[in-house]
Amino acid sequence: MIYLVIIILFFLIPTAIAGVIGAPLAITRKKQVEKIIEKAGIRGTDVFCELGTGTGRMMIKAYQKTNCKVIGFEMSPLYYLITLINLKINKVKNYKLYLKNFFKADFSGANVVFVFLMPKPLKKLKFKKGQKVISYCFPIERLEPYYIMEEKNSLPVYYYQF
Ligand SMILES: C[S@@+](CC[C@H](N)C(=O)[O-])C[C@H]1O[C@@H](n2cnc3c(N)ncnc32)[C@H](O)[C@@H]1O
Repeated sequence: MIYLVIIILFFLIPTAIAGVIGAPLAITRKKQVEKIIEKAGIRGTDVFCELGTGTGRMMIKAYQKTNCKVIGFEMSPLYYLITLINLKINKVKNYKLYLKNFFKADFSGANVVFVFLMPKPLKKLKFKKGQKVISYCFPIERLEPYYIMEEKNSLPVYYYQF
């Protein structure tokens, strides 16, 4: 019984909250990951941040392609653990992973930010001048992307420069 309570309190409730306030788990398509990172023009001196890491797929690819520092915020302990395991398996060295609500986090040190979130939370996020923001699937309302990656049988990717 105690295990059930622990699972509900520490795993299911935060995961459900994250699904409502940000987005439920849906993973960026594998076939698009590399192209998204390439188009971002990330350099080794950049800091890449993934808001809502899910499995950590984008952080891992950004590191593998550019050797840059990668940061991730994930609110669900379950997805946090999955991301952590994936970072270790993929031997990512220069990373920081936080079990935290990104709305309460300081990600101003990042110059490239990746998001795969619902339109409402996207609108609420505050980005810093100079940050490049990549939004998978959904555009950020009232902002003009400098580039949109659109390919057949793929979800759109929106690139913004703040
Ligand atoms: C649509 S998934 C995207 C996963 C990953 N970024 C990808 O592209 O494959 C959204 C993720 O954001 C997390 N999330 C939603 N709201 C959050 C919040 N406020 N703070 C931290 N993580 C959040 C969810 O738990 C989920 O793992």
